[in-house]
Amino acid sequence: MTAATIDPSGQILTLETNTGARRFHAIWLRDNSPDPDTRAAGNGQRLLALRDIPADTTLSAASVQGDKVRVSFAPEGKTVDFDLGWLMDHAYDLPAPADRGRTAPGITTWGAELMGNVPCGDFAQLASDPAALRDWLELVTRYGFGKIENGPVEDGALFKVVDLFGFVRETNYGRHFEVRTEVNPTNLAFTGLGLQAHTDNPYRDPVPSVQVLYCLESSAAGGENMVVDGFAAAQKLRDEDPAAFDVLASHCARFEYAGEEGVCLQSRRPMIELAPDGEIIAVRFNNRSLSAVTDVPFDQMAAYYAAYRRLGEIIDDPASEVTFRLDPGEGFVVDNTRVLHARKGYSGEGTRWLQGCYSDLDGLRSTYAAMCRAGQKEAAE
Ligand code: FE2
Repeated sequence: MTAATIDPSGQILTLETNTGARRFHAIWLRDNSPDPDTRAAGNGQRLLALRDIPADTTLSAASVQGDKVRVSFAPEGKTVDFDLGWLMDHAYDLPAPADRGRTAPGITTWGAELMGNVPCGDFAQLASDPAALRDWLELVTRYGFGKIENGPVEDGALFKVVDLFGFVRETNYGRHFEVRTEVNPTNLAFTGLGLQAHTDNPYRDPVPSVQVLYCLESSAAGGENMVVDGFAAAQKLRDEDPAAFDVLASHCARFEYAGEEGVCLQSRRPMIELAPDGEIIAVRFNNRSLSAVTDVPFDQMAAYYAAYRRLGEIIDDPASEVTFRLDPGEGFVVDNTRVLHARKGYSGEGTRWLQGCYSDLDGLRSTYAAMCRAGQKEAAE
């Protein structure tokens, strides 16, 4: 049984429920009113600016009516029915999360133990079965990467992967880029050397938040792909040495790429990026494109370098890495704000041809969330 009360000032509504009391401010309730004068019926967009709502808004009446909470606002004299479930889902009267370095709900951090259980989808199934695609997108969201198998072996097949969830992000490397040994490499990714695990293109702002790599030929020995959970690495650093975590999270690094005519990409961002409440929201780690760090005070530079070195050691630790081979018709999608990727070295005999492109997480998350909503709607009907 739920009861609604208003405090004497009219500023605060309290809902007493089976799970405890939740308080809501009058101005928050008014700004979030679900009525058709406040929210567009079709797309739900807000029709008012805050300036349209009186600053002296108070609650003049409130009552619970079944699964609705009826609230009246003064001085407008407006009465609105809130969905009780919506209010409880959006309650903010909760203890503030205090720990710096935690991750968002819905994320599971991992290390080498994920090796036997790499998130994977069958291309034909993902393309034809919405439930299979939704489940695979859930895995990509949870673990920050997902493999695809049994896809077409044809030039540009990676675009069909992107079509499953979003849109290609074009860059100066083109709509896509080729990854294979070249005689005159301008970028180490095009040589046969093994690379340290990294996030791609930290010198872009905003960074491309999804990368797709897709294999078309693979007859050279070695060249396995490897991924490392950057959030898990950052958390391990925090657990070992909170001061080291803080020095990386509190200062901007600088990244740059100017390896071709007419291009000078530069960014200034921390290696571990936190939201204002301390949640880890991004990791940038790329030895090749880190430029001179100048945003760390002199008396902290030695500690900064020690922390950077330790983060690299955690990333290089085999206990952090998951490796898998990509055969022709296989690819993987990676959250480039979280999961680092690398390629083991491979021999010069034979060929290895991958195509890569960028996309963005907003499209991937939108596709996943819309599929979840559609599924809930269907279940409710
Ligand atoms: Fe890369």
